[in-house]
Amino acid sequence: MCGIMGYVGENAASKIILEGLSKQEYRGYDSAGIALRCPDGIESAKIVGRVSELVRRVEEMPSECASAASGIGHTRWATHGGVTETNAHPHESVDGMVVLVHNGIIENSRDIRSTLESQGVKFSTETDTEAACQLLAVLYKKCDGDALAALSKLTAYLTGAFALVIMIRDRPDEIWCVRKGSPLVTAFDGDACYCASDPTALLGYTHDLFFLEEGEMAALASSGIKFYGFDGKERGKSSIHLNWDSVMADKGHFEHFMRKEIDEQPDVLRLTIDTHTIVTNVAMDKSLTLPKGLMKRVRRVQFVACGTSFYATLVAKDIMESLGSDLDISAEVASEYRYRNVNGGEDTLAIFVSQSGETADTLAAARIAKSMGTHCIAITNVRGSTIDREVDHTLLSMAGPEIGVAATKTFMGQISLLTLLAMSLLKDRGVLSANDEARLIGGLRSLPVSQNAMLEREGEIRALAEKYSDSKGFFFIGRRECVPLTMEGALKLKEIAYLPSEAYAAGEMKHGPIAMLDERLTVVALVPDTDLREKTLSNVEECRARNAPILLLASDGDESARTYADDVIFVPRTEPELFPFIAVIPLQLFAYHTARTLGCDIDMPRNLAKSVTVE
Ligand code: G6P
Repeated sequence: MCGIMGYVGENAASKIILEGLSKQEYRGYDSAGIALRCPDGIESAKIVGRVSELVRRVEEMPSECASAASGIGHTRWATHGGVTETNAHPHESVDGMVVLVHNGIIENSRDIRSTLESQGVKFSTETDTEAACQLLAVLYKKCDGDALAALSKLTAYLTGAFALVIMIRDRPDEIWCVRKGSPLVTAFDGDACYCASDPTALLGYTHDLFFLEEGEMAALASSGIKFYGFDGKERGKSSIHLNWDSVMADKGHFEHFMRKEIDEQPDVLRLTIDTHTIVTNVAMDKSLTLPKGLMKRVRRVQFVACGTSFYATLVAKDIMESLGSDLDISAEVASEYRYRNVNGGEDTLAIFVSQSGETADTLAAARIAKSMGTHCIAITNVRGSTIDREVDHTLLSMAGPEIGVAATKTFMGQISLLTLLAMSLLKDRGVLSANDEARLIGGLRSLPVSQNAMLEREGEIRALAEKYSDSKGFFFIGRRECVPLTMEGALKLKEIAYLPSEAYAAGEMKHGPIAMLDERLTVVALVPDTDLREKTLSNVEECRARNAPILLLASDGDESARTYADDVIFVPRTEPELFPFIAVIPLQLFAYHTARTLGCDIDMPRNLAKSVTVE
């Protein structure tokens, strides 16, 4: 939530900052702003709307500002205070000494505000951020212009989550960064320093990045970066080389990032399989050195995540069960796990899945699990992210940067890695049969070809999306391995097309939801040709008898499925457990084309942010 970009060097800061903001716009896009170090002081420009609007506003600034060599910028996802120009960042202290941008939530902002107001400080916005800004100005004065001392004091006062990037009026050569709870990454390319919320904004300049740790600060100057703890003591820090290509974060010839990312899924899958398997054997142990005997010892496995990542864990849970796991397996959303009295300890393995590695609830859940002595593994797409640094082991998914707010290829990266991890864990435990291992690895290897065949059916799916786009809502139904997919299919439609869509285990429809059905509520039924085909088709019949239009996903060659539905999307056959790997593609394309037909903003859906760093 909220994207930050900062620059100090010799080039035109405005261009670099605006480019960085547009790369991070998916993090929040209700308003945006920039502050530049102009010859007469720090000048700001703020707008309600998108970064493209801010670009126009910056063009109206005095020409000396356009060539300013340092500045900070922000794209906002509002938490405290409405979406107005005044509430947009950067914020400036009443004496004009401090200008800063913030990502996170300052939980004690009300207390700080009332204390400062009682001392005569005038606030001009409704934001929590302004409290940090005004307080820092007061502390800076008290510390006689010692920025490090003032920031140490500030960090001791503030509670909550905050990534702050700060300019101080009488320190023209520096930008300060402070990190607790919200991500911040810095870089030096030999001539200039940069900072951002997301590493993808910096890849055009360097791939060697310094991720700020919890409780860390940095002073950026054109000559380099110095790192400090919140205690003000300088500390050393090594860079992390991020192997992402900056063109991966470009749209290429596609109209939307989401569409491009859907297309990249066969490659993501292929890369994951090639990295972690040998012939028909899972070879996860190369990258995952669990303590000796851990898998023999554990009794329970807990999957924890949010959003689409959570649905990926449901796929993994189903696969583990289908392989005959003797473990007690649960999958839970992180926002619940963190507040429940969950079991944990040495006999528990917890697997946290987070594309960004920064989701506040997932991080909090991981910290709780760790504190109980649970062994923690993370699956994330971002090396150097908070979760990567905090758990016992990290497995990096191989999706590359994902820009579309609705997750697609990172889901594929997660389910492929989770499947291999599940197999590897069960193998370690002596539960995975050689036959299942060879069967599933063989199945996974043939998936990219089937996925490409599925992608080639896009025309058909687009036509169906257009046909059903005037439905008043959707029910996605299925059984067992299809249940996580019903949730993901429904979520995609909610996220980008804003249509009411529910996911239901097919057998549950008759316990209530069937009452809602009529000719304007479409049922999307997932019915692969497995042992559950007939049972699911009976549920489809029940829906059809209530006049609901039926759109069926069936296995290639299952011609008789047509008699149960108004329309059928055929899906290439695979091993039963691997159906989600192919069937998710038509669901993503269906949501994409529905949203496109309805004229929605596909890559930046309203009210959402890609990385949810607040609770
Ligand atoms: C947000 C995003 C979703 C994502 C979820 C979890 O809601 O919009 O696409 O699935 O957060 O994010 P994570 O980075 O932890 O996977």
